[in-house]
Amino acid sequence: MSKKKRVLLTDESSGKELELPVVAGTEGEPTLDIKALPSTLGYFTYDPGFTATASCTSKITFIDGGKGILRYRGYPIEQLSERSTFLEVAYLLLNGELPSEAQLQKFRGEITYHTMVHEHLNEFISGFQYDAHPMAMMAGVVGSLAAFYHNRMDMESQEHRMVAAQRMIAKMPTIAAACYRHHMGWPTAYPQNSLRYCERFLHMMFSVPSEEYQVSEVSARVLDLLFILHADHEQNASTSTVRLVGSTGANPYACVAAGISALWGPAHGGANEAVLDMFTQIGDISNVPKFIKRAKDKSDPFRLMGFGHRVYKNFDPRATIIRQACYEVLEELGVNDPMMDMALELERIALEDEYFIEKKLYPNVDFYSGIIYRALGIPVSMFTVMFAIARTVGWVAQWLEQSNTPTKIGRPRQVYKGPTERKYEPPHSRR
Ligand code: CMC
Repeated sequence: MSKKKRVLLTDESSGKELELPVVAGTEGEPTLDIKALPSTLGYFTYDPGFTATASCTSKITFIDGGKGILRYRGYPIEQLSERSTFLEVAYLLLNGELPSEAQLQKFRGEITYHTMVHEHLNEFISGFQYDAHPMAMMAGVVGSLAAFYHNRMDMESQEHRMVAAQRMIAKMPTIAAACYRHHMGWPTAYPQNSLRYCERFLHMMFSVPSEEYQVSEVSARVLDLLFILHADHEQNASTSTVRLVGSTGANPYACVAAGISALWGPAHGGANEAVLDMFTQIGDISNVPKFIKRAKDKSDPFRLMGFGHRVYKNFDPRATIIRQACYEVLEELGVNDPMMDMALELERIALEDEYFIEKKLYPNVDFYSGIIYRALGIPVSMFTVMFAIARTVGWVAQWLEQSNTPTKIGRPRQVYKGPTERKYEPPHSRR
């Protein structure tokens, strides 16, 4: 009989012992179940940034950071990015299995059915300043979806939850394009349901009433690839935010709006915009060494954006795929982007540098994605919105998984370092 793995913890001050059970997943590092720690030994654990903490069990996405492995529901990202489509991947993440032909067709129909937004939502968008950052608009507008659909939603119903998930996947491109068009001062472009997901988005982004707009097949294909690569990434900051908000029983639109806000930060999804800002700041390939030097200088806040990852300590498999796609797309679209040369030079120098080697810092998913978005004509301020459209699938898949599992409210503790008890004195007696 196989013996369950346990780790013995001894508190030398009290002489008490606790056997911590090891929670084993199907793959990945063994994890200690520490739930009994406070009630038996009286300790909490301290792990800022959750660098050593698993917050849930999940069957959706697996990452082995040392080996550069990323799999959705067991399927390697390399295979999915080469052979699948974003909507098929969305079905997989939501449902756990790849769809049959008929299931995929039905799913496409379900997503297409929900692409329009309430006309009042367009009015809501028109209330923003023309130069509002689209991520700020996205967080507000997606959160407001609860005001449109919340009353009709039964959170206990699995079917209702699935409809909410599909609704968000369907509406996110419509909302994103509407935010962009508001900035441009263009009239609303309604979703053309005869087009496929990415074609439809590009059409909503770039079509104008005065001209015929033909969606570029190359652009739609590469966008679909980028969306596949960004679709999920297990318990990253925005997904953990979605789960934390979800653990309170909040509606899914509020959860995803919180995820969008978390994604916006430059350490997370906002890095794709920050990478382009960095390239602009570097200005010329000859300045690359100067900026590498700055990135290594601890007294300088400058970091190489698009470099490093909490989990990947060898390479980010998404970056490898995007790098290759970058070459192909620039060639197919006939774009000659000096930023690509700058990126290659930056990568070359950094990968030979002791600092980056020792700290295991490699290009991540955001390093090359912006160059592709630029080639597609997507403005820099919309880069993180692109990420949000794709990651919505992961957010709602993780939210569905959480909603289908008994869940405790997320409530971390702290190490209190403030003053101990003291007595209140009235203002006149304070010094
Ligand atoms: N440039 C220079 N030094 C870096 C960088 C970088 N991009 N990233 C990490 N380091 C150094 C850091 O200064 C630290 O050095 P030391 O040990 O001497 O203090 C060491 O490497 C470890 O860094 P950390 O910040 O403790 O690592 P982390 O796991 O907490 O952070 C990260 C990971 C992605 C936030 C960080 O690498 C970073 O800020 N990268 C730039 C932003 C970026 O590209 N973010 C996108 C991440 S991938 C997409 C996504 O998740 O959305």
